[in-house]
Amino acid sequence: MNFDTDIFTLFDKKWALLTAGNEENFNTMTISWGGLGTLWGKPVATVYVRTSRYTHDFMDANEYFTVSFYPEQYRKELGVLGKKSGRTMDKMHESGLTARKAGESMTFEEAEVTLVCRKLFRQELDVANIPGSIADMLYAGQAPHDMYIGEVVEIIR
Ligand SMILES: Cc1cc2nc3c(=O)[nH]c(=O)nc-3n(C[C@H](O)[C@H](O)[C@H](O)COP(=O)(O)O)c2cc1C
Repeated sequence: MNFDTDIFTLFDKKWALLTAGNEENFNTMTISWGGLGTLWGKPVATVYVRTSRYTHDFMDANEYFTVSFYPEQYRKELGVLGKKSGRTMDKMHESGLTARKAGESMTFEEAEVTLVCRKLFRQELDVANIPGSIADMLYAGQAPHDMYIGEVVEIIR
């Protein structure tokens, strides 16, 4: 498996879709926080999902998730998927993207790269351990983020 990237701009500037579930029932949302690295001797992807997101339910219910990256021409679609919730929108049919299976999970045909991940770990980011200025800005009265770490088991291009 090989993935060459500028990791500090990949999530932040390019964004990604985080998708979990199966063909019958899945959800996806835009993310711009995340990381790639090594844990327990495995290649891993780390993502952060507020507990209020519909996608959070799918992250907890499924063993696999995908992180997929898109050409610039799909910025608008990623914007919509990062504003609307799967609770109020049929993301499978209305996203403007074409859903497809990826290993044990789902991605979209339009992705240039999809990382298929097997969930290894989940933990709530404890606000008590976050610098005060960040906690005030991002967590005052808002749902916390859960951190999910997945082993990257396949890279689909
Ligand atoms: C550019 C961008 C980046 C985002 N990054 C994250 C993220 O890393 N974690 C998160 O929990 N929400 C993030 N969001 C917000 C979710 O994508 C958004 O709330 C989405 O509508 C949730 O959909 P869902 O309820 O169907 O899961 C981001 C939104 C945008 C537009």
